Amino acid sequence: MPRVTLALVGAGLRGLTYARHARDTGAGEVVAVAEPDPVRRAAAGREFGVPAHRLYTGWEELAGRERLADAAVVATQDRLHTAPAVRLAGLGYHLLLEKPMATEEREATAVAEAAERAGIMLAVCHVLRYTPYTRALKSLLDSGRIGRLTSVEHLEPVGWWHQAHSFVRGNWGRSDTSAPMLLTKACHDVDWLVHLVGSTPRRVSSFGSLSHFRADAAPAGAAARCLDCSVEADCPYSAKRLYLGCLGDADSEFWPLSAVTDTFTEEGVERALRTGPYGRCVYACDNDVVDHQVVAMEFADGATCSFTMSAFTPMGHRRTRLHGTHGFAEGDGTSIRLVDFRTGAESVVDPEITAGASAAERGRGAGRRVPRRGRHRRRERPGVGRGRESGEPPGRLGRGTGPPYRRGGHRRLVTRTLGAAPRTGDDTGPHLQAIEVIRSRPDPAPSRSPHPSGSARSGSSLCLGVS
Ligand SMILES: NC(=O)c1ccc[n+]([C@@H]2O[C@H](COP(=O)([O-])OP(=O)(O)OC[C@H]3O[C@@H](n4cnc5c(N)ncnc54)[C@H](O)[C@@H]3O)[C@@H](O)[C@H]2O)c1
Repeated sequence: MPRVTLALVGAGLRGLTYARHARDTGAGEVVAVAEPDPVRRAAAGREFGVPAHRLYTGWEELAGRERLADAAVVATQDRLHTAPAVRLAGLGYHLLLEKPMATEEREATAVAEAAERAGIMLAVCHVLRYTPYTRALKSLLDSGRIGRLTSVEHLEPVGWWHQAHSFVRGNWGRSDTSAPMLLTKACHDVDWLVHLVGSTPRRVSSFGSLSHFRADAAPAGAAARCLDCSVEADCPYSAKRLYLGCLGDADSEFWPLSAVTDTFTEEGVERALRTGPYGRCVYACDNDVVDHQVVAMEFADGATCSFTMSAFTPMGHRRTRLHGTHGFAEGDGTSIRLVDFRTGAESVVDPEITAGASAAERGRGAGRRVPRRGRHRRRERPGVGRGRESGEPPGRLGRGTGPPYRRGGHRRLVTRTLGAAPRTGDDTGPHLQAIEVIRSRPDPAPSRSPHPSGSARSGSSLCLGVS
């Protein structure tokens, strides 16, 4: 497969994530970098082997040259998407554009028109659409497994410390410098729900507010910075606990810590907490975006959807319940539980996803536990504080899975996809055309196997076609 050559515009956290992905999969090669921060620019140049004459101080300088790559990855901050996207489209670059596409409708229209004019491919990074989990869920719906969809419940569990990091102290805390939460975070959910349902809503309503991360919620004794605070140890949002706890863990140092400092030592972190935005008390920031919001939607066929985003959760995968006329599906971002109303049978589909929606969205920061202070982290008991409860990606069947897997009564099929069959014309059901029944027994005891293909597998094993 010929490699796509890429110009990286914005060598920040997301830009690097995509550039590494392109390199690591062999799909693309970074041949130019546009980044005003000299440290980031030089580091990206070294990492991707880009010669000095192809390192630019910004998209403006890059756009002053002839097109020098097949495509550009535009991963600048939210309010800096439109100008580079329009200019680079005009030069003939295909575009991978970070979400939100733009922060104003007229700007999004300008980007779409520029792409159409230039005849280039424009992809906005609504990455949730492309996970095996989403494909499995979508193909279940499209194949009629649960009948006609009547309503959807969807939760975006942002997570308490993620909210504090990104939407209170960080880049997305203020609507006027980035955009409202519904655009900066929940645009993924809205896009995903529309994709799943297959149409745009005809009516919407929404409520939300900033209820907690505000001055009047500050506990007595709180200081302006966590390093000076006498009640810091009791605060769930302690910057000391969060960021010092990242040290020594490569993933946590990349995210969230590299947003805070590029010096991964105790002194480096403390210096950043003393002077930078991430050391501020969450009750003494300049944030104004909501910390919880609900959106109600009604689609043309009468189907409804209620969507909740909340800061006050463990950080984890989205949860979704789909109510159909002939069945019910419940997804936790990694597997899907199905109940067929015709037979009462329950089945669980595991789309063999390891990182999931949050991972795709957050880069390497997906589903991570709160970093703990020190090298030796508290060992968690399986099923207690691990898996879903802590924000770590849930284990496979049986670990921390809770009530849905413990119900008895009906015959239950635990299934696992065996890989995608060749795509069919309408691309429905590629992940469900071959499934293996790995356990089939009435009234099951809770499984403790962390892996469905492991030795704990029991019962029959056969292949089914379910499309
Ligand atoms: N798809 C997702 O799930 C997802 C997740 C997180 C963030 N994002 C989005 O990705 C974008 C980038 O986020 P980030 O966390 O990587 O931010 P970041 O601040 O780490 O990176 C942005 C980079 O753009 C650079 N930049 C500024 N002006 C520039 C210019 N004129 N030319 C070129 N580069 C310039 C900055 O110096 C910075 O290095 C944002 O729009 C954000 O909302 C998407």
